[in-house]
Amino acid sequence: MTEHTLAATDTAVARRIAAEAARRRTFAVISHPDAGKSTLTEALALHARVITEAGAVHRKAGRRATVSDWMEMEKARGISITSTALQFPYRDCVINLLDTPGHADFSEDTYRVLTAVDCAVMLVDAAKGLEPQTLKLFQVCRHQGIPIITVINKWDRPGRHALELMDEIQDRIGLRPTPLTWPVGIAGDFKGVLDRRDGHFIRFTRTAGGATAAPEEHIAAVDAHDAAGDDWDTAVEESELLSADGADYDREQFLSGAASPVLFTSAALNFGVNQLLDVLVGLAPAPAGALDVDGVRRSTESAFSAFVFKVQAGMDSAHRDRIAYARVVSGTFERGDVLTHAGTGKPFVTKYAQSVFGQQRSTLDTAWPGDVIGLANAAALRPGDTLYRDVPVAYPPIPSFSPEHFAVARCTDPSKHKQFRRGIEQLEQEGVVQVLRSDRRGEQAPVLAAVGPMQFEVASHRMATELSAPISLESLPYQVARVVEPEDADFMNKQVSAEVLTRTDGIKLVLFSTPWRLEGFQRDNPEIKLGSLVAAGA
Ligand code: G4P
Repeated sequence: MTEHTLAATDTAVARRIAAEAARRRTFAVISHPDAGKSTLTEALALHARVITEAGAVHRKAGRRATVSDWMEMEKARGISITSTALQFPYRDCVINLLDTPGHADFSEDTYRVLTAVDCAVMLVDAAKGLEPQTLKLFQVCRHQGIPIITVINKWDRPGRHALELMDEIQDRIGLRPTPLTWPVGIAGDFKGVLDRRDGHFIRFTRTAGGATAAPEEHIAAVDAHDAAGDDWDTAVEESELLSADGADYDREQFLSGAASPVLFTSAALNFGVNQLLDVLVGLAPAPAGALDVDGVRRSTESAFSAFVFKVQAGMDSAHRDRIAYARVVSGTFERGDVLTHAGTGKPFVTKYAQSVFGQQRSTLDTAWPGDVIGLANAAALRPGDTLYRDVPVAYPPIPSFSPEHFAVARCTDPSKHKQFRRGIEQLEQEGVVQVLRSDRRGEQAPVLAAVGPMQFEVASHRMATELSAPISLESLPYQVARVVEPEDADFMNKQVSAEVLTRTDGIKLVLFSTPWRLEGFQRDNPEIKLGSLVAAGA
């Protein structure tokens, strides 16, 4: 092949990759438990016609049969601690929906997923407004600069006034709401929405149990009053008020994370879900490459590269299986490709690449920027690792997030100290827990730190079953961690209800029993500078 034809082929390949990247939308839903995330996920997949009847993705105890056998612990508790990467086509696009584990399984993984998305949907219960878990996840999105689409859900039920909810979003988190639709009828007496982009009335039609996609009826503005009565006029007035207040959609502000387009939905009754899909396709950003450790952008058309954002171990006890989830940043991936692990320079064979849909795994053959690859037999991979082909690259490590749960780990079998030390080290490298130490507590009693308590259960389970060193965990009465300068450590250790420990990476953390203790300390000692780790509550 001459140089000329090689270049021509390369250009054709690059064009194909750019086209595939441009039609990817990779996002996650951030919400508090019970806001309707599972219901919305089902509804999205239903609208995209992946599944014929709502229910196939649901994975909660008592819901339509999908009990996972990936981990004994999951079986015992009837919940899933496994993240789902759901991929489906919609119009000309391919949507990748990454699940953010919530409920009892809220963990550092929940945050890590947000490093792998281009956009987040903030799902808010119309009756409850912004809730704690939503706020924490929002802070991570803000830190990552991820654009946010706001969805006010459960509008079919009594709830708060739409304007009040807009004020709450603006005032509490400084995100400017720019509604794309506006409800016609108050929460609980929902007639539909005013589409603020074209002025149409989209009428809400109830279907039995919301089990099938609700038909959407678009009614021209001139006929809307006849269809919805005074509620239409109120909606028009409120929408004009919003415009006068500058609350109209602005692409630049959305992409910079300053403003958020807002939609009103009833996920359970399948209303507004089409609109959300259309917004994802029309407004959400496509993958745009990423900055490497040196701050140089790797474009989507470059040679293949991906970073691992999550490692799930022990899913199959028979095989001690380990899956690493990697988000493709650039290039195209073919199953069987031999990649290079940027950290070690070692080759990584990918014959076990999988896509994960709900609880089912199927073999994945090709992936493009924005897609998620599940790599089995991935003992060598850790969250934050980079994989590449041909042209070397390394992406920055995934930040560690602020832990809120702390427990002292002790080896329960004195003859297993070596395994204990090695096991704890392995769990830390895999990102299952953070490990803190101090001279006072000694090498035999490291403190495990986690974002969610489930991480301790995973650690304990794996230490006993896989790493041959059963442990006991004694929980510590701390809730907040802050970074402290080494020179202030002694002073901090003398405080009531505070303790300084050192993380393996050398960072010193001071733990406080409550956020109020921390606040009180800062008030009394303004000269001591305490740093935050990523995430709210920190
Ligand atoms: P989550 O994943 O965010 O935790 O929430 P999930 O979808 O499980 O929804 C929590 C509850 O809220 C469910 O009720 C669900 O049916 C309900 N829900 C979700 N979206 C809407 C909505 O738009 N309108 C109304 N009225 N309800 C909604 P449940 O009683 O816990 O379960 P189920 O018996 O209804 O399945």
